[in-house]
Amino acid sequence: MERVWWKEAIGYELYPKSFKDTNGDGIGDLKGIIEKLPYLKELGIDLLWICPFYLSPMRDNGYDVEDYYAVDPQFGSMEDMDALLEKAGALGIRVIIDMVLNHTSDRHRWFQEALKDPKSRYRDYYIFKESKERPSNARSCFSGSVWEKVEENVWYYHTFDKTQPDLNWECRELRREVYKIMNYWLDKGVSGFRMDAITYIKKGNSMKNAEPQGEDGLHDVADIGLNQPGIGDFLLEMRKECIDGRDAMTVAEAPGVPYDEIGEFIGENGYFSMIFDFSYADIDLAPGGNWYYQADWKFSQLKKLIFHSQLSVQRQGWGAVYLENHDQSRSLNKYFRDKAALPYEMRKRFLQSTALGTLLFGLRGTVFLYQGEELGMMNCPFSSIDEFDDLNTIDQYYRALKAGCDEKKALKFVNDRSRDNSRTPYPWNAKKNGGFTEGRPWLKLNPDYRENNAQRQQNEDSSIFRFYQKMIRLRKEKTETLVYGTIEEIQVENEPVIAFSRKAESGKTIYVYINMGEDEETLAAKTGKCLSCNYGDMICKENTLTLRPYEAVMTES
Ligand code: NOJ
Repeated sequence: MERVWWKEAIGYELYPKSFKDTNGDGIGDLKGIIEKLPYLKELGIDLLWICPFYLSPMRDNGYDVEDYYAVDPQFGSMEDMDALLEKAGALGIRVIIDMVLNHTSDRHRWFQEALKDPKSRYRDYYIFKESKERPSNARSCFSGSVWEKVEENVWYYHTFDKTQPDLNWECRELRREVYKIMNYWLDKGVSGFRMDAITYIKKGNSMKNAEPQGEDGLHDVADIGLNQPGIGDFLLEMRKECIDGRDAMTVAEAPGVPYDEIGEFIGENGYFSMIFDFSYADIDLAPGGNWYYQADWKFSQLKKLIFHSQLSVQRQGWGAVYLENHDQSRSLNKYFRDKAALPYEMRKRFLQSTALGTLLFGLRGTVFLYQGEELGMMNCPFSSIDEFDDLNTIDQYYRALKAGCDEKKALKFVNDRSRDNSRTPYPWNAKKNGGFTEGRPWLKLNPDYRENNAQRQQNEDSSIFRFYQKMIRLRKEKTETLVYGTIEEIQVENEPVIAFSRKAESGKTIYVYINMGEDEETLAAKTGKCLSCNYGDMICKENTLTLRPYEAVMTES
């Protein structure tokens, strides 16, 4: 068993805007992250993924980069970043940063130069097309066409918002700039990157017209613009230029890669160390990506998706596992839907969160927690569209109205799915603004912060925070099984029960049983010594396991 640090690491995604504000402007900053490093250390994480902090107009909260070599003043300075890397390193915490290289902000100097002068060398850094008509009918991820007109008969291409023009990876000079940026940050001491939207960098089918999908005559770019033939050449070159020979990792946001091609991405000689899989994160959506098309799903489907993903990855390489991120709603609401604990049902919230925690820490792959998951944070009740910040949410709201939903329904859909659910400021304590800021928070806090906050959970022995801390310790103690062991589903008849084993080379096996439902479930089970049970003690007699509502156990034999 060859040991690799990034397989064993416990990752934590941090959204700087919402973590901790230290200067009273209502926006989290790098100094705030430094202040809270001891908290992260206490939790047990050893790999931080920091979402974008670069200079940016913040139209898409930093995923619209104006300068890759500068820290946005609202987050602090380059000295703060250096201090953060140094202090994290001293605590044994590695840092990876978000690399947004499919597009820049339209305020990036390259784009501004390209606009000013069609003969500028920067023109070729982006995708400009001369055409009388819109060059193709792909629909951008955030609304309208991917094409934006800049002059008579001249258009540029954007997969996301029109303020996020796509970079032209076909241009050798642009690619050289990209590698320079990545190497700059690696030389500075980051341990790698989370690669944003990377499967969009090669353009192919979205440059041609496709079958219209709706009244706007457009076709979703996510259907036709991902993982296009030839992308591997760019990704391999990037790996060779930046990662090979370094002690660094990459985790790619890589939707659109079919399981039978996944080995090219994450196998022994893959383009990345690991990728995020979205198959079960999007179980609540019907195909098409519209939030007003919710899918009615069953636990059996969830299980199928989880194990299909786990087994495909296991056959071919290494994956990253997660239940939450900055683009998703909170997992308690997503996976328990109308059965999710009400904000003040703390016992139920504990059981449901720890059931999800047991699942997450039991799966094979590098675990990434998202900030607040360790407190069992839930979706935030937003009472009007004006309370949201996220451009995607606002777009989805108006799309829902256009599709015939009334305001109440449209608001319900965005409440269920908004990316702002996971972006609400972090509740540190029960004081004003949850101790997040002395000023006016940029986005409202989840009003339950007085009952549910980090301080309170740290003061309790049996809180969600303490449970997650124990899970992390267990994962570190049982590396042979929980990190490197193989995974196998245990078939059970009970619809809401997720069951699997992790088996080490030595034969040592850990069994995981999770009851996602509200009723008691009884099943014949292989068990052994109890390693963890969110009820304290498991009930197992003569190989019959009784799982109480939302009970989760891990045993070893
Ligand atoms: C994926 C990021 O996770 C998301 O937050 C962002 O809006 C898009 N990429 C565009 O960069």
